[in-house]
Amino acid sequence: MAEIYHATATAPVNIAVIKYWGKASTKLNTPTNSSLSVTLSQDDLRTITTASCSASFDSDALWLNGAPHDVSNARSQACFAELRALRKAKEDQDSSLPPLSSYKLHLISENNFPTAAGLASSAAGFAAFVRAIADLYELEETPTQLSRIARQGSGSACRSLFGGYVAWEKGSREDGYDSIAVQVAPESHWPTMRAAVLVISDAKKGVSSTSGMQATVATSTLFPNRANVIVPARMEAMKKAIAEKDFEGFAELTMADSNSFHAVCLDTIPPIFYMNDSSRAAVRVVEEINRCAGKKVAAYTFDAGPNAVIYYDEANEDLILGVLKKATDHVTGWSDKYSRISPKVPDGFNDSLLAALSTGVSRIILTGVGSGPLKVPKENALIDNEGNPKSS
Ligand code: DP6
Repeated sequence: MAEIYHATATAPVNIAVIKYWGKASTKLNTPTNSSLSVTLSQDDLRTITTASCSASFDSDALWLNGAPHDVSNARSQACFAELRALRKAKEDQDSSLPPLSSYKLHLISENNFPTAAGLASSAAGFAAFVRAIADLYELEETPTQLSRIARQGSGSACRSLFGGYVAWEKGSREDGYDSIAVQVAPESHWPTMRAAVLVISDAKKGVSSTSGMQATVATSTLFPNRANVIVPARMEAMKKAIAEKDFEGFAELTMADSNSFHAVCLDTIPPIFYMNDSSRAAVRVVEEINRCAGKKVAAYTFDAGPNAVIYYDEANEDLILGVLKKATDHVTGWSDKYSRISPKVPDGFNDSLLAALSTGVSRIILTGVGSGPLKVPKENALIDNEGNPKSS
């Protein structure tokens, strides 16, 4: 067997506070509007991927959580082609380099969170995919340059190449070249940002974000105003709120943008519903927390599914988690780290709102803002000597 070259990287999940919803070009996977997200800590949510190549491999292959997955789709192929072209250019300049660009790739990928949780994992998945191959090929491209490639795998993946607070600038070029991710602020700028992910079970399989957003662009009359007027103004306001660590401004924009995104979904023909009764219960509880606090101390946001993500500043942890614990004390996720939190609501809180949350939430993931992709030492690679997934 010929030599197996490999590199391993991890990449984080990101949750948008200004949402990407709508494609300007389906071919280039460019968006109709810019978006902005918070990268979540990889201690709690991350994908790890080993990228390997060898003259002995017969075909490109991908294993996800141990099961083989198809890589013939246009998105994976676009990422492979771009990364191989960058490696080929290096090899053409330096003939002493092994011709990795001509070898087939084996990718082995694992998530540290349950896939059943219904958390959008394509962002972390494609970011780890691109980062691991770029490391294998010893590419010198910056995360922003690599974001152009990850974007073609899944739009939101381009934002997972950075930690902290990240914008995906939609760009204006016909070829999509300037549709890239940039870091707005590192995690160290505002390290006290926390996120509680409420995993809400959903019996039926929802509409995928890819097809949902295309239907919205094609049919929603509210959508052009969102993409062309509302979001550009919110992007600027959100960058300012983050620069000033203004949680109230951040919260107002986050909740308004989540609601605007779900409003254009409802305005799609036929309408798309991602939030369910339990999601709406989470909205009411957050609104009640804010009413009792007399200011916005918590902010909800929802993606293309019923799960709620609640952002808050660590300074208000006892208040926010006290209420959430009162409603969801029975679910997985309240580790010993949170044993000091007593389940309680503030004075004047409308307790009756908690019942609907209690029944709807199946798990809680308590996390916070975190770093971008990380390199993993060779000895922790997920690959065996034959180029297959190591049995763990
Ligand atoms: C609601 O990135 O999954 O999470 O580019 O088609 O792969 P594709 O879409 P995807 O869409 C994410 C949509 C969202 C909002 C967001 O993350 O900004």
